Amino acid sequence: MIRTGSIRLVLGVHRAYEDLSARSKSYFHPGFLGRAALSRTGVAAAAAMILSTLPSLRRLLWHLVPGATFVWVAAVECERVIGFAYVKGMRGRRGRGHRGELGIFVSDQWAGRGIGRALLGTVLEQARSVGFSEIYLRVYADNEPAMRLYREFGFQALVSGTQGGGLLGAGRQVIEMLLRLEAK
Ligand SMILES: CC(C)(COP(=O)(O)OP(=O)(O)OC[C@H]1O[C@@H](n2cnc3c(N)ncnc32)[C@H](O)[C@@H]1OP(=O)(O)O)[C@@H](O)C(=O)NCCC(=O)NCCS
Repeated sequence: MIRTGSIRLVLGVHRAYEDLSARSKSYFHPGFLGRAALSRTGVAAAAAMILSTLPSLRRLLWHLVPGATFVWVAAVECERVIGFAYVKGMRGRRGRGHRGELGIFVSDQWAGRGIGRALLGTVLEQARSVGFSEIYLRVYADNEPAMRLYREFGFQALVSGTQGGGLLGAGRQVIEMLLRLEAK
């Protein structure tokens, strides 16, 4: 079941991320989940995730600190978080539309059962209703499940390049993708 982000799901999201396989973490390392949660970025992101669950505060953040505006959803099974997707405002985009960055994971044991598609559909719909007009993401070129999913939702490749470092070392090809959301 897909649930809109709420305070009581935050810990579960961190736990589910911690339990991901090393391979999944190598594909998805947003810098604020798992161990990174204890860093300054992690603490700030956790606060932003929590504040953004309250629509009035999220509207305030949207205007004052776009980079701290989150829209996020979790997949929950028997009260356990088994997947997570978010769109987070990007800084430095004033006057160029509201662009958000997307991230997503599904627990390894639950992969391939349609949960990623459900999470993505829900988070994109919520991002659109909040007012995001563009969704940006970065994906490793060898991440076939993610690439197929993103293409299915209409994401288009912008550029590809080679990452200088990262968990699997230098030289991995990264693709940047963008989806334009039509206002309803
Ligand atoms: C990418 C990810 C979120 C997909 O979630 P999922 O729940 O497994 O995906 P779904 O079951 O909803 O499948 C949706 C589509 O994804 C693609 N897909 C999923 N698993 C796939 C696989 N093993 N091989 C190829 N394509 C796959 C397919 O297009 C699939 O559609 P189809 O079933 O009609 O063929 C999940 O694999 C994951 O968490 N990976 C690790 C973290 C990660 O890579 N995050 C993205 C970083 S950019």
